[in-house]
Amino acid sequence: MPGARIGSLAAMEIREAAVVGLGTMGAGIAEVFARHGLAVVAVEADPGALSRGMATLDASLARSVSRGRLTQAEHADIFGRIRPAARLADTAGADLVIEVVPELLAIKQQVLVQLDQVCRPDAIIATNTSSLSVTAIAAGTTHPGRVVGMHFFNPAPVMRLVEVITTVLTSPAVGEAVTALARRLGKTPVRVTDRAGFVANALLLPYLNHAARLAGTGYASREDIDVAVAEGIGLPMGPLALLDLIGLDTSLAILEVLRDEFGGTRYVPAPLLRRLAEAGRTGRKSGAGFYDYPAKGSAPAPDSGYGNNADPPPPPGTVTLIDPGRSGDRAAELASLIAAAGINLISDPAHPSDLVIVAVGPEGGVLTAAMAAGRASDAVGLHLPRLAEPNLAGTVLAELVSTRLTSARALAAAQALSARLGLRLVRSPDRPGLLVNALLCPHLRDAVAMVADGYATPGDVDTAMTLGCGYPRGPIRLLSDAGPERVLDVLRAMYSGYGDPALAPPPLLAEMAAAGLGAIGPEDAGHDGAVREAAAEPPGQTGAEPPGRT
Ligand code: CAA
Repeated sequence: MPGARIGSLAAMEIREAAVVGLGTMGAGIAEVFARHGLAVVAVEADPGALSRGMATLDASLARSVSRGRLTQAEHADIFGRIRPAARLADTAGADLVIEVVPELLAIKQQVLVQLDQVCRPDAIIATNTSSLSVTAIAAGTTHPGRVVGMHFFNPAPVMRLVEVITTVLTSPAVGEAVTALARRLGKTPVRVTDRAGFVANALLLPYLNHAARLAGTGYASREDIDVAVAEGIGLPMGPLALLDLIGLDTSLAILEVLRDEFGGTRYVPAPLLRRLAEAGRTGRKSGAGFYDYPAKGSAPAPDSGYGNNADPPPPPGTVTLIDPGRSGDRAAELASLIAAAGINLISDPAHPSDLVIVAVGPEGGVLTAAMAAGRASDAVGLHLPRLAEPNLAGTVLAELVSTRLTSARALAAAQALSARLGLRLVRSPDRPGLLVNALLCPHLRDAVAMVADGYATPGDVDTAMTLGCGYPRGPIRLLSDAGPERVLDVLRAMYSGYGDPALAPPPLLAEMAAAGLGAIGPEDAGHDGAVREAAAEPPGQTGAEPPGRT
């Protein structure tokens, strides 16, 4: 096309797309393009990978047919729009080319240099990098103005977010065209500048990494970590199951990029994550990661279900309830649950009882309260971290906290009591944050820090996490529902316990605790998904107000 301006195509003119790299994400992106009527060239140099990618794509469409979402004819039509190809030169006719090759800068740079030579001059070149600098990826090209980040989320056909990343060199028209294309594909674009991890991965990965670290250090079991997040916060997947979905090798690569850009402990890959990746346990795609996936693509094997003992011992006849002072409502709630179960409840620790329950808060401190009562070996902590609705079975999540001095007898009695109360137990050590808040509060802290940095608005943060990662509520909304002052308390306890600057509450959080969400600007508060780019409600968002208590 002689005389065509570089990267000058508008979104409506994009009729043919090329996807370079047909792994999990590449196949998903090709499916999205084809489902929305674009002709797609699917390029993969390795013939085995090409046929596996096409098979993944076919299977994904077949699943939609089996669920009644597509007809056989539509399946055939969509699949027929995708032309498998082995050479980069086959992208020559495409209006937009997106590279989805492994997350290594050198490989991506090399692919872009080649694409720059074979693509039409007016074509747009996009990268689906999840964390690398788009500027650096574009560096060797003759026309970096037509290079843009177009970041999809896994599974690409399902997740509605596309991060559109423009660099200082990207031509504004290219950013506009890709933003409009994302909308045409039924996605919600969030536009950001070029910073490691952009919005979603810069928030998601340190939280996932933290979960891997807790699993690796024996802080909590793999199953308890995932149940704590799914049932205690209401996120669609636990962090370790999500790492398996994303891929441990990909996650490791993203963390390394984040560590290089930002420094600090949150991004240093957890040793267990690295070891599993080195061992080839890269997640679902390899059949094993944190969990085993007996058949490729199947759900993880059922957990061992701590606390769901089929034959629990009888519950204790008499329970002493200690209110450590800060808990107020918490102790009252536990008291009414225990009394309703017909168990004799006393509050004087000097009276004999079968079990002592400390109505602990998320800051921890069971040991101190139990020792002050002179009942350390009889005592456990119980905490109901309800940010999520009770699950479908109607059970409520509870954190069971044993201390260094808790006896095995007390632990068994507490499990029996919890079974009687219908609580779903996860075990936590007596450390600040316990389990749910130890994972959640630093994650919310990172979100506030990103807003404080001026990188993203609260609305963008919430859109990214609801539409990119399926959160029922974004981090800013979660923060508001949990209460910024409570999150601040947990972070202060964690910071004082561990001394890690990555846990220090940012000043903006203290301002939010003092002034409410108004501290970050009412229009940007992220409530109801009312954000700049969000076009519609994220899936699963009901508008219902779940209980807000950490
Ligand atoms: N490919 C295509 N479609 C898929 C799919 C896949 N791999 N997995 C699920 N689906 C579809 C199903 O067919 C189903 O569609 P219908 O409603 O049309 O029937 C729908 O998704 C729901 O699936 P399921 O009922 O099987 O399962 P679910 O309700 O448990 O949802 C999930 C599965 C969508 C994956 C959900 O658990 C979720 O949202 N998890 C969070 C995923 C997430 O965080 N992704 C982002 C990771 S970060 C990233 O990708 C960025 C990066 O750079 C690393």
